[in-house]
Amino acid sequence: MQRPKTRKVAIVGAGDVGASFAFALAQAGLAEEIALVDVNHDLAQGQALDLAHGLPFVHPVHIHAGTEADYADAALIVITAGAKQRSGESRRDLLGRNAAIMRSIMDGIMTQRSEAIIIVVSNPVDILTHVALQHSRLPPNRIFGSGTVLDSARFRYLLSRHRHVDARNVHSYILGEHGDSEIAAWSMTHVAGLPISDYCSVCNTCAGWEQIKDEIVSQVRNSAYHIIDYKGSTCYGIALALVRIAGAVLRNERSMLTVSTLMQGNFGLHDVCLSVPCIVGSRGIELVATAKLTDDELAGLHHSAEVLRSTLRELGQVGQ
Ligand SMILES: NC(=O)c1ccc[n+]([C@@H]2O[C@H](COP(=O)([O-])OP(=O)(O)OC[C@H]3O[C@@H](n4cnc5c(N)ncnc54)[C@H](O)[C@@H]3O)[C@@H](O)[C@H]2O)c1
Repeated sequence: MQRPKTRKVAIVGAGDVGASFAFALAQAGLAEEIALVDVNHDLAQGQALDLAHGLPFVHPVHIHAGTEADYADAALIVITAGAKQRSGESRRDLLGRNAAIMRSIMDGIMTQRSEAIIIVVSNPVDILTHVALQHSRLPPNRIFGSGTVLDSARFRYLLSRHRHVDARNVHSYILGEHGDSEIAAWSMTHVAGLPISDYCSVCNTCAGWEQIKDEIVSQVRNSAYHIIDYKGSTCYGIALALVRIAGAVLRNERSMLTVSTLMQGNFGLHDVCLSVPCIVGSRGIELVATAKLTDDELAGLHHSAEVLRSTLRELGQVGQ
């Protein structure tokens, strides 16, 4: 078994998401080595070469096309491989195509006896995280999904636009499925420490706030569909979200992020992967933070879990 290099990242899937993540990761200066692995090796070669030509302008990093052998000493493996979401196609329709791909990638990682932390990005991300965990039998702290980190960023962005305030001052979380049943945790939403409801008193744009809240959540849920309709895929937002998650692992930041993790009694849920606030560090999921939610939010989270569980049942991942 090879000891992992402390800052080697293997990206599985060199398509739009994988390459955009590699581009953003190189600029962030977080990695010493980035290996791009794709069944389409020519694509991986082309992306690596293109990225490498920018090396004089970024932090030193070795970027190359890789193979399964690169999993052996990677500190982090980020799986973006899979079939692309088509216009109008729901995330769950991608399921059959992507579950088989995920199992074959996990076989490769297990063959290499990799000790890496593994982040699943391919959709449907909550289901494929479950597939990866169940197929590999690795401990749940080591495999998690990018979950609703992107959705939470979209939520923060939309709230910041509505409130005319820096998005970095808005703290809010989307929980549950990365998909149609996700919920907004309004009880955990703050603007620079002020609960969002209190912030209304210093802001003049609150007329119809309840309706605006619903519209914002609906926009978050439909963001990916809109972008896919416009340009075929989403890649930049997720790439930056992945840099944030990768940084938390590689630098042991112990950051609170809404990644998709296996529920083991948290929030009264079992045997389903979905997004809740987690502390992410060098061991992957360091802690699942069982935050206090309102009754409505908790009911929404349970509904989201049920939606995911029914998909897992379709796939034969959990008992009927
Ligand atoms: N979780 C999120 O927030 C989020 C956001 C955007 C996209 N996605 C998902 O990410 C995935 C990738 O999206 P994309 O736009 O980059 O797609 P893409 O088609 O551009 O790239 C996917 C790549 O995976 C490769 N691939 C397929 N099987 C493979 C295997 N067994 N091993 C290695 N590589 C393999 C393909 O050759 C292709 O290059 C999709 O499932 C998409 O839905 C997730």
